[in-house]
Amino acid sequence: MTNKKRVTFGSRLGVILATVGCAVGLGNIWRFPYMLGVNGGAAFLLVYAICIVVLGLPVMITEFFIGRHSRKNAAGAFKVLAPGTKWIVIGYNGVLAAFLILGFYFVVAGWTLEYILQVVTGSLTGKTAVEFASDFTRFSSGIFRPIFWTVVFTALTHIVIVPGVKKGIERASKILMPVLFFILIVLCIRSATLPNAGAGLSFLFNPDFSKIDSSVILSGMGQAFFSLSVGMGCLITYSSYFGKETHLQKTAVQVTILDSLVAILAGIMIFPAVFSFGIEPTVGPELVFITLPNVFSQMPLGTLWSLIFYVLLALAALTSTISLHEVATAYVHEEYQMTRSRAALVVSAGVLVFATLSSLSLGVLKDYTIFGLTFFDFLDYVTTKIMLPFGGMLICIFVGTQIDRKILKAELTNQGTVPFYFFNTYAFFIKYIAPVAISIVFLNELGLIEWIRRMF
Ligand code: TRP
Repeated sequence: MTNKKRVTFGSRLGVILATVGCAVGLGNIWRFPYMLGVNGGAAFLLVYAICIVVLGLPVMITEFFIGRHSRKNAAGAFKVLAPGTKWIVIGYNGVLAAFLILGFYFVVAGWTLEYILQVVTGSLTGKTAVEFASDFTRFSSGIFRPIFWTVVFTALTHIVIVPGVKKGIERASKILMPVLFFILIVLCIRSATLPNAGAGLSFLFNPDFSKIDSSVILSGMGQAFFSLSVGMGCLITYSSYFGKETHLQKTAVQVTILDSLVAILAGIMIFPAVFSFGIEPTVGPELVFITLPNVFSQMPLGTLWSLIFYVLLALAALTSTISLHEVATAYVHEEYQMTRSRAALVVSAGVLVFATLSSLSLGVLKDYTIFGLTFFDFLDYVTTKIMLPFGGMLICIFVGTQIDRKILKAELTNQGTVPFYFFNTYAFFIKYIAPVAISIVFLNELGLIEWIRRMF
């Protein structure tokens, strides 16, 4: 079943960093604070943290199993492990999710490039909090500028994708991740020492349990899946490049810890500043973009810090868009016998159509809604809150019911050479707990549980 010719990542550190690069991105720094702000603060953090441990980590280990065991892309893996069965829908769900996620991700990634330009040209300084906010809205609801940056970001991703995963991602992540951590910590210190910072920290860490309702739970679960990049086969594709000595469980734990740490640091960097500058935590997707310029304006050498930060944010976004693009490209390339560059072109062109529409839906097309959501919000909702948890649930059920426990254990312990102390607990979780928990969250959001409670 193993295909010896498939390239693998070069070193152990390379494996972890490439996977962290995939997980850490706008999801941690842009989406996490924005979701936390909209969903009532620390209560959301709590739900998110529980979902990371109970659902995210087990699903990640399971994806690693599928990827390294089959050595195929997200869809091909199911053709190898369960030929001729309906389980292939997990793969299709993943490839489609990659397209749709990129449809809004490229737009936000494009915004980071606009900010780099603004820093360089000096137009991101000397404004009041209100001006930072109104200028951002004017930019993001415009037509040509945001679309231009979306196209640029898509092109950047495309250029990295074509020659293949191994060299580019691994090398870049080795430098990027440590620097990103450093700058986040500097910004946390600045933000947490601003006047009224305590209110922000309390919003972030002191939960108001009355805020937890079905929509907060669904949002927390969606954020956990999105942030860890699980539920759509991205990590199946990545782990298909892992070497046979890669310690799968340990890698999963390390990636989960680093990813969560970046999200928490992003929270500490954002919320004290939000409260200090009188910004509404509930503003939505623009939160990070209108908060941080205020922080930079309060720092010595603010321009330099902001330049480093936005460049890193763009690069963190790039290591994530590469991973999403790779899922779709590897699928088209391997399943349709197309050359890699042709496959990448098909994906880039397709995604740009979605991305252009979702950028426009923040401005001229904002009145065209789907189920009451703008196209941008619709793509975000369908992928993070439905497709990823649904995919994660099927991945767990698939491995829980279709894979021989001995095979599962052999792969996860590298043929018995490394221990897996909680194997039985893990196996129980993926077979029963995760699918049931995810179903309950779905039913709860649909109001079914409330309905049943009222009946009795
Ligand atoms: N996790 C990334 C982030 O936080 C985004 C991402 C990359 C992703 N690959 C994914 C999300 C696969 C879901 C599935 O920015």
